Amino acid sequence: MARRATAIREQRAIDPRLLLLSAGDFSGAQGIIEMYRSRFLVRTMIEAGFDAVAVGERELTYGIRTLKSYAEDGLPIICANLYQDGTRVFPPFVIKRIRGAKVGVIALLGERPRDLDGVEVRDPAIEGRDALEKALRECDCVILLAHMGRERLLEILPSLEGVDVVIRGHGREEEKDRESCVDTLASSSELAEVPVFFAGKYGKNLGVVALAGIRGKRPLVVESAFVNLGGSVAGDSAMAKELAAYHSEERLKRRELQLSRTLARDASTGKILDRYLGIEICRRCHGELMPRFVSGRHFRAVETLRQRGEAANPECLACHTTGYRRPGGYDPATEKEGAPYMLGVQCEGCHGPGTTHARDGSYAKAARESCRTCHTSKWSPDFDFQTYWSRVSHRERADSI
Ligand code: HEC
Ligand code: HEC
Ligand code: HEC
Ligand code: HEC
Repeated sequence: MARRATAIREQRAIDPRLLLLSAGDFSGAQGIIEMYRSRFLVRTMIEAGFDAVAVGERELTYGIRTLKSYAEDGLPIICANLYQDGTRVFPPFVIKRIRGAKVGVIALLGERPRDLDGVEVRDPAIEGRDALEKALRECDCVILLAHMGRERLLEILPSLEGVDVVIRGHGREEEKDRESCVDTLASSSELAEVPVFFAGKYGKNLGVVALAGIRGKRPLVVESAFVNLGGSVAGDSAMAKELAAYHSEERLKRRELQLSRTLARDASTGKILDRYLGIEICRRCHGELMPRFVSGRHFRAVETLRQRGEAANPECLACHTTGYRRPGGYDPATEKEGAPYMLGVQCEGCHGPGTTHARDGSYAKAARESCRTCHTSKWSPDFDFQTYWSRVSHRERADSI
């Protein structure tokens, strides 16, 4: 990041009117630490003054609300084919003025996110065409940020006539170390005219493309270069400082997160002592409590998040699932691989890990003391134990305590 800051500064020194673009997939993997890291990265992108940023499928890792919050913070996100409730989530394109010319930048997403989380990725060819027609009416030149693999781009390019330059990005693609940012699309005569660039993945490179244009004519690619941010570029010192501060903050958070896991391990053997077992285990012996419980809101707390398009946001999942990222508890990384479902606030959400099950009254007591960990003043300002417990107690007639 520090090196990228230097490289951008150097390019700006050559031409202060450059357009700084990202083709997407800057977000990290799942998990709360990765989310903090992505937020930090976004902050640096806002500071660097990006002109347009496309949406990659990874950008939905933390849910649409998180992505929208990046835009609210000032990240110029565009995408012509991402919809929620029938409307585009972000503007389909932006228009930039460079030396009197109007340059339009359009973005399209051609890959399916792992978790759609309440959004819809519409056909990039149709939506792209629509955005392009509007952009062409106003612009002298149109750049397409295409977040997709080569095959997909080849499929849709014929319906996007009028695009002058394509910048492609897609993080998951296997790529050898690159030496140039000219993309090697399978050569096809009708596409040969549209230059396509690809700067590689993981933000390791900065692709530089110089265009020259005469009004009314397709701009010419004068030069394209490729700055590898590997070793040779010196790190920007202000950015290096910010980065160091972030890293120590991240270390703290990581330690906090690990604490709950460490506490659940036997110090000498490292064996996990306490773990969450899941409601199916409780059902075996407490079947009589189930019908009432599963019809309640605790059990459906993730449903509530889904309705708000937040089922992928780690900050929400921590209270709306059971044992979030603790041994045996809900973990988005393993959810789809057959791990016991720990969605919603289940029995162990209040009583604690099933392995701590006791019959001396302490397992029931743990639940009486649990409410406030989730019913915080922020999320449940009206919380009062008697009133609330009477609404969710295990039996029709409110248990007296
Ligand atoms: C692991 C977090 C967690 C714990 C512990 C917890 N709750 Fe909740 N509670 C929630 C969440 C999340 C909701 C919102 C569920 C929804 O609507 O999606 C909720 C909703 C409720 C509601 C409103 C829903 C309804 O059915 O009326 C009541 C009442 C309630 N909780 C009582 C309690 C009481 C009493 C305790 C302690 C004995 C408790 N909760 C412990 C997370 C928790
Ligand atoms: C600290 C724990 C906690 C976190 C974090 C949390 N929630 Fe909740 N949430 C609750 C509790 C507890 C309730 C029930 C409140 C009540 O009924 O008093 C609740 C209720 C809700 C409700 C139903 C409220 C209503 O008025 O119908 C929604 C929607 C909701 N949460 C969404 C979210 C979203 C979205 C996030 C993440 C941005 C989130 N929650 C994060 C604990 C939490
Ligand atoms: C909202 C938090 C919460 C959830 C979720 C919850 N419990 Fe409880 N549970 C309590 C509280 C509080 C008590 C103590 C009540 C008392 O002392 O009267 C309790 C008591 C009990 C008891 C002993 C007293 C009794 O009523 O029989 C059993 C057994 C029990 N819970 C089983 C379960 C099972 C099984 C589930 C899941 C289906 C579950 N609980 C889910 C809060 C919860
Ligand atoms: C193998 C059967 C079995 C399973 C599985 C089981 N329980 Fe129990 N549980 C019992 C028995 C038996 C009691 C004692 C009942 C009594 O004393 O009336 C009990 C008591 C409890 C109590 C009251 C304990 C106290 O504090 O004295 C709670 C709470 C409870 N179970 C919750 C759960 C939860 C949550 C699960 C799932 C993680 C679960 N149980 C799984 C058999 C089981």
